[in-house]
Amino acid sequence: MGGLDQPFSVNRMVVKNRILRSATMENMADSEGRVTSGLMKLYFDLSVGGAGLIITGAAGVELSGRVWTNQLAAWDDGCIDGLESLAKVIHKWGEGCKCAVQLHHGGVSGYGYSYGGKQAKFSLDDAPSELIRKTIASFGEAALRVKKAGFDAVAVHGAHGYLISQFMSPVTNHRTDGWGGSPENRARFALGVVQSIRGSVGKDMPILWKMNCDDYHEGGQGVGEYARVARGLVEAGVDLIELSGGLKDQIKLRARLAKEAGDHEAYFRPAAQPFRDAIGGKALAMTGGMKSLPAMEALLNQGVDFVGMCRPLISEPDLPRRLLSSPDKRKAKCTSCNKCLLRIAREPVKCVEFDEFERMIRNL
Ligand SMILES: Cc1cc2nc3c(=O)[nH]c(=O)nc-3n(C[C@H](O)[C@H](O)[C@H](O)COP(=O)(O)O)c2cc1C
Ligand code: SF4
Repeated sequence: MGGLDQPFSVNRMVVKNRILRSATMENMADSEGRVTSGLMKLYFDLSVGGAGLIITGAAGVELSGRVWTNQLAAWDDGCIDGLESLAKVIHKWGEGCKCAVQLHHGGVSGYGYSYGGKQAKFSLDDAPSELIRKTIASFGEAALRVKKAGFDAVAVHGAHGYLISQFMSPVTNHRTDGWGGSPENRARFALGVVQSIRGSVGKDMPILWKMNCDDYHEGGQGVGEYARVARGLVEAGVDLIELSGGLKDQIKLRARLAKEAGDHEAYFRPAAQPFRDAIGGKALAMTGGMKSLPAMEALLNQGVDFVGMCRPLISEPDLPRRLLSSPDKRKAKCTSCNKCLLRIAREPVKCVEFDEFERMIRNL
């Protein structure tokens, strides 16, 4: 199994295996962002499916930062009871599975995976410092709600061109004050978020941070700059860095990266060593393109601690159990067609490609 079934500790949290369900927008909360029975069922399926660590879809830290109509809320205390039920489902049926809520602010609309869903409003170039500090504080307040709800860890969406990644990238950050210009200034917002969360949740709760290793955009940041940012983040208190990439046009980008990766599958494999060097002994996860056991094992051999997956677990929530504990070791059936991604602009997430009813109506 090449170590995939071995436990790993992140801060004080022991994760039972190396498979991480990367954050996946469900678009299944009610109109106020509260947990629904559909969400409970989704997380039940995932928890019995065998992943060691489950990260929820992006949950908004401020109503004004919401991107999808049915995105989970972390923006007020009214969300705590529903989130508590989700954590209970995962803990009760997940056989030791650990869980985190991913905190998110959409920032300037039109970036990331927000195909069609573009509700967030933030003027990054004009926002007064007071508003920026208030948004940083919102991350800390939301993290405390996640802790009160009983989750094991708090995760942060710092990738894909949403607010945190917009601050970091020179493509989207044109400020000339202390929040923009130099790489240090562009990272100030992210470091403020880490400090705000750490101040809220205390030293023992793991903070998991998803970030770009490369913007893959003209004028954007590359691996060297982002590895330096990662070092700053772990020094400020982050316990796990999850690597992803890209600012916008993710569908085209993923197709190109998949081709380049070939049998190795991992879109961001070349970033493994520079980030390992930058973050020392802190946990390193990588998400994007993973489908087969040999490719996952190869990634662990390269010094990555967790294999993250999103789309393969939309089509097969029980994939980790199948690969780790059953004789069926075939690669994930997900074809990376991205129909699920286009669907969440308006509807709840599901694997469109292998949905029987979708097939029937396609052939009418
Ligand atoms: C339907 C869908 C929803 C997603 N929602 C999120 C999200 O809420 N937060 C996040 O960090 N990434 C999100 N992503 C990106 C995935 O977590 C992941 O980084 C990307 O799909 C590549 O990994 P994969 O090849 O395992 O799917 C989403 C992707 C898809 C397809
Ligand atoms: S819709 Fe396509 S990309 Fe999404 S989970 Fe299904 S097969 Fe994979």
